[in-house]
Amino acid sequence: MEKPGRSYNNHNQLWFAILISFILLLLCFHYSYTFRSPNNNVFTFSLNNNTDSCNGRYVYIQNLPFRFNQFLLQNCHILTRGTDKSNMCPYMKNLGLGPEIKNQNFNGVLLSNTWYATNQFLLEVIFHNKMKNYECLTNDSSLASAIFVPSYIGLDISRFLWVSNLTVRDSSGFELVEWLVKKPEWKRMWGRDHFLVSGRISWDFRRQFDDLAYWGSKFRFLPESMNMSMLAVEASSWNNDYAIPYPTSFHPSMDGEIYQWQSKIRHQKREFLFTFTGAPRPENEESIRGKIIEQCRGSSFCKFIDCSYGGEKCDDPVNVMKVFENSVFSLQPSGDSYTRRSIFDSILAGCIPVFFHPGTAYSQYKWHLPKTRTKYSVYIPVKDVKEWNVDIEKVLLRIPEKDVIAMREEVIKLIPKIVYADPRGKLDNFEDAFDLALKGILERIENVRETMRKGKDPSVGFADEDHYKYTFSDN
Ligand SMILES: *[C@@H]1O[C@H](CO)[C@@H](O)[C@H](O)[C@H]1NC(C)=O
Ligand SMILES: *[C@@H]1O[C@H](CO)[C@@H](O)[C@H](O)[C@H]1NC(C)=O
Ligand SMILES: *[C@@H]1O[C@H](CO)[C@@H](O)[C@H](O)[C@H]1NC(C)=O
Ligand SMILES: *[C@@H]1O[C@H](CO)[C@@H](O)[C@H](O)[C@H]1NC(C)=O
Repeated sequence: MEKPGRSYNNHNQLWFAILISFILLLLCFHYSYTFRSPNNNVFTFSLNNNTDSCNGRYVYIQNLPFRFNQFLLQNCHILTRGTDKSNMCPYMKNLGLGPEIKNQNFNGVLLSNTWYATNQFLLEVIFHNKMKNYECLTNDSSLASAIFVPSYIGLDISRFLWVSNLTVRDSSGFELVEWLVKKPEWKRMWGRDHFLVSGRISWDFRRQFDDLAYWGSKFRFLPESMNMSMLAVEASSWNNDYAIPYPTSFHPSMDGEIYQWQSKIRHQKREFLFTFTGAPRPENEESIRGKIIEQCRGSSFCKFIDCSYGGEKCDDPVNVMKVFENSVFSLQPSGDSYTRRSIFDSILAGCIPVFFHPGTAYSQYKWHLPKTRTKYSVYIPVKDVKEWNVDIEKVLLRIPEKDVIAMREEVIKLIPKIVYADPRGKLDNFEDAFDLALKGILERIENVRETMRKGKDPSVGFADEDHYKYTFSDN
């Protein structure tokens, strides 16, 4: 009788000892496991919950001097829209979304109070304001996976793009990097974890030569700037530029508004097979626009909206959406640059885009648009404008109705991904254009960090020769 009892007791003591050691060990971990790994990420080990949902997603907003951002908003009268002399002040309203479009102006084209007269250049301000409400911000830059530089570089350069003194044109870019490299955050990865956002196309910052015949500032060719990543409405072929959607005029602040819009768009009656909304480029012989306008004018299935100066108001979201809501397809040729805001207005209206050059969307918005381009768009490649003799109407009429419906459904599904939700609201079931952009840039910076950790050169700041190449093949 004695033996089993003692044995039972010994057993108990043994387990007790093991349990105590285990608890001590865990406590030990708890206190000592807040350590800094070589790459400066901090892992915290907790008894209750060892998963921090922000792990790997922390962003630090660099605390820039006033002159790089707020100054431009307060002095909006010095910023013009470029084409005309009216200033940018009205567009600063509503955290950069612009003036709200009131119900009485809708004419059944738009829905609810989610529409604003948004100017594309204000993307910098909208993005900054969305960033301020990001769930994983940190004030401790050593915790951050990425450093956001909230400089309104596009608004800033718009003051100098037409200035013929190149020193003046480049000066604010120099000032910005000079300021950044002095900060402790720079030294950690030599700026390779820094990113900024531009509402202007990347080419506006990529003047290759100090020669007045060349366009833009040389900001993105400064060695410091080369180490940073830039998100812009149009990327260059350099591998530190990334394209994100142009802002449209639709800024929902909750899921319901997206569902409601999708449902309206899905049931839209579409009178026209296709539309072209834009202006001709007579001065550019390489431009396909002349041929497209000719074909549109010659087809009873096509609606042409002439956006030439003095033409119909193509800036008015009600006019723009009305046309796209009434067409099955929209023609999206390149303009002054490869991309156009119109692509996103078209998607927003459930109107299937037709592309003529891979640089207009396929090689740009990789974080936001599907890989399989046939799912949501039609591609009519143009290698040589002079030899181009495709009949657009015939191509579009040949597409079976069931394919059209499937494509449109895909386009409608894209809507939440290409809109910038109101920074004052919150979407629960959707990732918007901002969320996808941030996810993309965090992933990219993580890859760079990983490469640097292995002691290799992350090859940031090189031109990607293949950028537009794959593109002319048929897949
Ligand atoms: C751990 O924390 C995350 C984020 O705070 C939370 O979503 C999750 O439910 C927690 N898990 C447990 C087991 O408490
Ligand atoms: C960072 O610091 C500012 C000013 O002290 C504070 O208002 C803000 O809430 C802090 N943000 C975070 C994410 O801790
Ligand atoms: C350009 O502007 C800078 C700075 O204002 C000035 O020093 C320089 O003389 C100007 N250059 C020319 C060619 O006017
Ligand atoms: C850019 O990054 C590299 C490391 O990848 C570093 O050697 C270089 O000094 C950085 N340039 C600047 C201007 O900080």
